Amino acid sequence: MSKTYTITAALPYTNGPIHIGHLSGVYVPADIYARYLRIMGNDVIYICGSDEHGVPITIKAKKEKKTPQEIVDRYHMNIKKSFSDFGISFDNYSRTSSKIHHETASTFFLKLLQNNSFKELTSEQFYDEIEEQFLPDRFLIGTCPKCGFEESYGDQCEKCGTSHNSSDLINPKSSITGNKPSLKSTKHWYLKLDEFQAFLEKWILEDNKGLWKSNVYGQCKSWLEDGLKPRAVTRDLNWGVPVPVKDSDGKVLYVWFDAPIGYISSTKEWANNNNQNWEKYWKDDKTELIHFIGKDNIVFHCIIFPSMLKAHGDFIIPKNVPANEFLNLEGSKISTSKNWAVWLPEFLKDFPGKQDVLRYVLTINAPENKDNDFTWKDFQNRNNGELVAILGNFINRVVVLTKKYYESLVPSKNELNDADKVVLTRVNQSIDKIENLLGNFKFRDGCSEFMNIARIGNKYLADEEPWKIIKEDPERVKTVIFISLHIASVLAIVSEPFIPFTSKKIKNILNFINDSNWNWIGLKENDFLITENHQINEPELLFNRIEDSEIQLQIDKLKKNN
Ligand code: MF3
Ligand code: ZN
Repeated sequence: MSKTYTITAALPYTNGPIHIGHLSGVYVPADIYARYLRIMGNDVIYICGSDEHGVPITIKAKKEKKTPQEIVDRYHMNIKKSFSDFGISFDNYSRTSSKIHHETASTFFLKLLQNNSFKELTSEQFYDEIEEQFLPDRFLIGTCPKCGFEESYGDQCEKCGTSHNSSDLINPKSSITGNKPSLKSTKHWYLKLDEFQAFLEKWILEDNKGLWKSNVYGQCKSWLEDGLKPRAVTRDLNWGVPVPVKDSDGKVLYVWFDAPIGYISSTKEWANNNNQNWEKYWKDDKTELIHFIGKDNIVFHCIIFPSMLKAHGDFIIPKNVPANEFLNLEGSKISTSKNWAVWLPEFLKDFPGKQDVLRYVLTINAPENKDNDFTWKDFQNRNNGELVAILGNFINRVVVLTKKYYESLVPSKNELNDADKVVLTRVNQSIDKIENLLGNFKFRDGCSEFMNIARIGNKYLADEEPWKIIKEDPERVKTVIFISLHIASVLAIVSEPFIPFTSKKIKNILNFINDSNWNWIGLKENDFLITENHQINEPELLFNRIEDSEIQLQIDKLKKNN
């Protein structure tokens, strides 16, 4: 049955290009899910945009003697283009510095103010006398009260992951001047999170027990056990959405307050551009809202944003928040500052046309339940040993044989024997399995089951050896090639969520007709999509081997920086 889905992918910070960690954690799995639901006939919007506020962007701007707007303009275009070149199928990619977002976020804040969801509090905050500014979040560094890391930020410790208040830091200093800060009093708005404790406990710990991933559930549980306290949602900064209240010059909404509202403003932007109604995707309780995020975003998407939505009153809350763990690179943590990363724009330049290889490797090796490692050697092995040797090889063999024996016309099948029936049953079982896995956010297993279909095809050809019996039993060969072409058509469709560029190529080779049956649903409702006498196209190689030298180049590039 067709449903409506709002799929969001965490808005990336606009202070650097996208790397493989972002892709494997968020954008690739969300893309697989969105593509899968679309071809199953659902009404899907896949929403994202640039997260352009926040202290890191201001700090970068200060360092480069540019304005924050100049920094985000540069990276917004870079990020947007690389996602699109990589085949990430967002329905809309917006940005939080846009007018529609500022309006949406301000209105949201005012509604919460009106609903009495805030507490106004004046307190002493750290202040840099030299820079004449307050020091929220990353403007402050000091020793983490939890793990003792000496370079913890005011809002979060990157070492142990704990998030805290600036006032918790030991030996705080300004990250701009290194000075010991003074204290100065200032007024802020605090979201009364404590008032949502009971609602969250029931919704997450009871209603979603066993439904959400255990890493997500576990983090929520520990937050709830600690007890929720009011949390400041405004800051003394001049880059962000201005607090829409009189006499609050120099105050903006906290980036983690405005950014998730970006999902809503991006939906509105899409609706405006496409003559659609955005409210269907955010206010209809039959719509499923799904947030794809990395594990460092869990509290914001499971505790704070749902409380904001609830406090507002008009919105649905997420059905699921499938957060991934982290991806490491060659055994070490990915780090922007150490340039220990595989950057998407560079990958696209170094490996033109190989988007699907990276998509495949990041999926088959995704950090779904634990941190995982990306290595160039594994990238090469998966390409040469799986994409080339299994999938590419199978499609190529079938298409070449069809050309050779039948001038590329699909032959007519004869009566099926037991071997044929077993193969068809196994393929159908795989399709069902993939559906089940993708519907449950198990993209790794779904992807390897998809590759299994190509394995089944290869084994079938190897067992039947049509090239050996073409002379003595040409009628049998017709059936074998027909079944093999059928498996190729299954692969054309089932590959789409994982490796969309290749899916398109296979469809092209099979001369996929623009018939509404040639899709996932058609696959289930018909025994075969291919028909006798259908003309297919010339063989075309789907994948090429990756040589040691290409891999070595990448490893050298990484090591050079370190
Ligand atoms: N920019 C944040 C990050 O990269 C994610 C923001 S998600 C949103 O960690 F919900 F706030 F938009
Ligand atoms: Zn710490």
